[in-house]
Amino acid sequence: MDFYQLIEERESVRSYDSKKPVPPKVLERILNAGRIAPSASNKQPWTFLVVSSEEMLKKVRPCYQRNWFQNAPQILVIVGDKSKAWVRKKDGLNSIETDLTIAMDHIILAAENESVGTCWILDYDYEMLAKAIGLKENEVICCITPLGYPESGYHKRRNKIRKPLDEVVRYI
Ligand SMILES: Cc1cc2nc3c(=O)[nH]c(=O)nc-3n(C[C@H](O)[C@H](O)[C@H](O)COP(=O)(O)O)c2cc1C
Repeated sequence: MDFYQLIEERESVRSYDSKKPVPPKVLERILNAGRIAPSASNKQPWTFLVVSSEEMLKKVRPCYQRNWFQNAPQILVIVGDKSKAWVRKKDGLNSIETDLTIAMDHIILAAENESVGTCWILDYDYEMLAKAIGLKENEVICCITPLGYPESGYHKRRNKIRKPLDEVVRYI
């Protein structure tokens, strides 16, 4: 698909068919898009956790209590190790959030290319999720998304509500 068409068509999916997990080969292509994402000083300080076993799904689903989220057959949790990320010497800025966010965006766009639905989620219970996945010291959770196919009968909204370009761009 043309890249500009792909980014126009991607939208947050809040409907998932619990009985239709993403096949391993498709999942691999999507995750590979995250693997090859850029990161500061090429440190690649990330781990992509694909929550897919019933046991782990049971622990992770309560971290975001929306009905539609409970149906996701797989949930991606991107975690990173702060001690492995690049740090700007002058002021100590750690690139972890930026690196992980870029990887997430690569993954979300690759998922769109595979007709796999995603929804970037930040409003989850951080402490609960950290406990559920056994987050280690130095590790942070950056973002999570369900991965799956929309329920049958689902239609994209196709109504991007965005500020006009001349409101968000300034040539200086
Ligand atoms: C950083 C970030 C956090 C978000 N957190 C949530 C969330 O917790 N729950 C949710 O339903 N959607 C969440 N979203 C999805 C946004 O609501 C959505 O991207 C935005 O409304 C634009 O719609 P679109 O993705 O369909 O184009 C988040 C998106 C981003 C980028």
